Amino acid sequence: MKYSLLLNNQRVEVEAPGDISLLKLLREYLHLTGTKEGCDVGECGACSVLLDGKLVNSCMVLAAQAADREVITIEGVCLPDGSPNDLQQAFIRYGAVQCGFCTPGMILAGEALLADNPQPTRTEIREAIAGNLCRCTGYQQIVDAIEQTSLSRKEKKGHA
Ligand code: FES
Ligand code: FES
Repeated sequence: MKYSLLLNNQRVEVEAPGDISLLKLLREYLHLTGTKEGCDVGECGACSVLLDGKLVNSCMVLAAQAADREVITIEGVCLPDGSPNDLQQAFIRYGAVQCGFCTPGMILAGEALLADNPQPTRTEIREAIAGNLCRCTGYQQIVDAIEQTSLSRKEKKGHA
């Protein structure tokens, strides 16, 4: 079937089987491999993307469900020149990236949270990333990076 979606702010059309997951469509047919495949059963969050602004596990969404909707992957989060955005930079600064496998999903979970709740508490941050597993960091650094980004965005807004 022919899929049409708004992907990272660009209209894309691609031909692919009608019964595949959004994760498969992204990685195998659109060659966006930043979205990771972990468990493939909705338990690890490595495949997280934003679908119409909401965090979803793309392994659990049929590609057909994303047709004509907006999808943001990790490739759509960076700045227009391709450099890391403030949240990605904070992940690097706070040591929240180790093996990196969970990182794309964590960044999207963080962005979804900050869009919805720009000043989350640390508990709210922990709740927001509860569906995203990280085997390396112990989560503390990830919470720090998201918290610091929320504070620096608030400060920037104050100066705007
Ligand atoms: S790969 Fe989708 S939740 Fe694990
Ligand atoms: S940095 Fe390795 S799984 Fe999170």
